[in-house]
Amino acid sequence: MKALCILGSTGSIGVSTLDVVRRFPDRFRVRSLVAHRNVEKLVEQVREFQPARVGLVDDAKLPELKAALKGYKGEILGGAQSAIALAEEPESGYVVSAIVGAAGLLPTLAALKKGKEVGIANKEPLVMCGPLMRKAADEFGATILPIDSEHCAVFQSARAGAAKELRKIVLTASGGPFRKTPAEKLKTATKADALKHPTWNMGAKITIDSATLMNKALEIIEAHFLFDLPYEGIHVWVHPQSIVHALVEFTDGSVVAQLGLPDMRLPIQYALTYPERLDGGLPVLPIERMKELTFEEPDHERFPSLQFAYRAGKAGGTAPAVLNAANEEAVSLFLQEKVPFVRIFDLVREALDKHSVQPMDSLETVLAADRWARDFVRHQVD
Ligand SMILES: NC(=O)c1ccc[n+]([C@@H]2O[C@H](COP(=O)([O-])OP(=O)(O)OC[C@H]3O[C@@H](n4cnc5c(N)ncnc54)[C@H](OP(=O)(O)O)[C@@H]3O)[C@@H](O)[C@H]2O)c1
Repeated sequence: MKALCILGSTGSIGVSTLDVVRRFPDRFRVRSLVAHRNVEKLVEQVREFQPARVGLVDDAKLPELKAALKGYKGEILGGAQSAIALAEEPESGYVVSAIVGAAGLLPTLAALKKGKEVGIANKEPLVMCGPLMRKAADEFGATILPIDSEHCAVFQSARAGAAKELRKIVLTASGGPFRKTPAEKLKTATKADALKHPTWNMGAKITIDSATLMNKALEIIEAHFLFDLPYEGIHVWVHPQSIVHALVEFTDGSVVAQLGLPDMRLPIQYALTYPERLDGGLPVLPIERMKELTFEEPDHERFPSLQFAYRAGKAGGTAPAVLNAANEEAVSLFLQEKVPFVRIFDLVREALDKHSVQPMDSLETVLAADRWARDFVRHQVD
């Protein structure tokens, strides 16, 4: 029986993770749940899964949570520290990292430093400081299992050969809601337009990242750190049906791919049950859908995000952390309707132009770069 800590349990990935847990009552037990401020959802989850400990990062909401959970026998913790405490406690051997953005870095790192199995959906910390996370995993004997569908697909496909036989990978992108939108119309794209994802149902930040292709940009860097591949070997194709999640090419020229419906419960289940494959009763890809599969080159003119990723990734050091933080801030401003959609690209580009890259020698350096980029972006807009 695996005892799970679910960081970000109230989000899209957290909810899907709990649905997988529900399908395997003999395999998984929920030890702890962590949310930011969605008390209503968290209470519902606590009632159903009866975790021993619960964390709510936003302290201001703690009285509301305590009142709603009157009679609950477990322990309720508050503040950012609660996520770290629950991620690192020895009673959970498996941590699902599903907080959105840089906020997931410290708890995820804490879990790695305790040598746990860590299923990572929260890609932003890997982008910020993949080498530090990999080093922590190696040093403390932790296992990183990718949940991001494309990386889970690479992970699964790569099992067909040895790591040194992997030559190239292709991550697929749906293309987002603006795949066919002319550049001129992108200038007036609204928040509602950008939140209409054609194939995936996800949280707001990643949905905007899909509309800018920044999600794929972050995934290029995530893949570089997860699979030790040079940037020249990491490619992106637009595949609007979101059925083929990634392809890997081996040294002999063989290409192996993983296919499935666009349903995050499948990669989550694989990351939880790895190295086994179990029947969780999830919907299966109807084979006739193979007739509709198409692939296109990404349009780098309308969507410069992929080029930002190659640029920041190759620059190395603190550049990916700046890319990530500038994007998080720009997306947040777009979601508050303070900047137009296309300004997200400008703000990220300007932050990369202005940043003087430092070697990634410590967590403090990464956090300082993250802060710098956020201040920079806010300052451009104020
Ligand atoms: N959704 C997908 O299909 C998908 C696919 C691949 C990868 N991912 C990655 O998985 C991560 C989560 O995505 P999502 O779509 O599930 O996001 P989401 O629906 O917005 O959920 C985010 C979760 O993180 C919590 N959270 C937000 N800010 C926090 C903070 N400062 N401290 C602690 N917890 C915080 C939220 O709590 P409250 O609900 O209480 O605010 C919520 O539980 C992202 O990194 C995303 O890129 C998602």
